[in-house]
Formats: sequence, structure tokens, C-alpha cells
Amino acid sequence: MPQVIFRKQGQAHHGEVAPETNLVVRAGIRHFPYPHLRYGCGMGKCARCACKVLAGAEHLPAPNWKELKLLGDRLAGGYRLMCQLWINHDIELAQDDDPAAGAPSTPLAPPAAN
Ligand code: FES
Repeated sequence: MPQVIFRKQGQAHHGEVAPETNLVVRAGIRHFPYPHLRYGCGMGKCARCACKVLAGAEHLPAPNWKELKLLGDRLAGGYRLMCQLWINHDIELAQDDDPAAGAPSTPLAPPAAN
């Protein structure tokens, strides 16, 4: 059974989950990592579930197109969307305290035409 360490606001929350577990789905039914995991749409559209993978990233699949679109440069920093991942191995995660940190970056606006 995969062991999950979830870090937030200076605390480490430990849990054991069944293989093929989606942590956002679990939080949605009020199981660990509820109530600590911040999430929103559950469909790869909002990035509120973004977490930095501190350990175990080597067991995760390559980011899908939703993660590529929403996380951009943050992927290189180790961030992934928890709603897009099914956990099968031990993993350690950290979620930023700032909810806006999970928001997708907004593209630069084109210069105003004169
Ligand atoms: S919960 Fe919205 S992108 Fe993961």
C-alpha cells in the first residue's frame, strides 16, 4: 500500500492509500488528505490541486496535456496536478500555503493598439 506524506503549513500529514488512488477523489469523500489538500475542479482545469513532489516523482507518469497547459514552467520545479495522478507508490508532497500559487499563470496581454 502506498504511503503518502503530505506537507502543508509546516505540518506533515501521513496516510496509507490503496493502489490507484487519486488524492483529490479521496479528499472529496473526506478521506486523507482531507481536509488539508486544496483542490477545485477535479478535472485539470483550475490548478488549485497543484503540489510539489518532494519524493517519488520517478514513479509518476509523464505529465498529461492538462498539466503541461496549466503548470508550464512549474513542472520543471516538481509541481504536478494531484487530480490528474493515480498513486501507486510511496510519495511525498507539499502544497503551497498560498491558494493563488496553484493558479495558472496568465499569459501576457498583447500590447494595446493605438
Ligand atoms: S482540482 Fe482543478 S486542476 Fe486539479
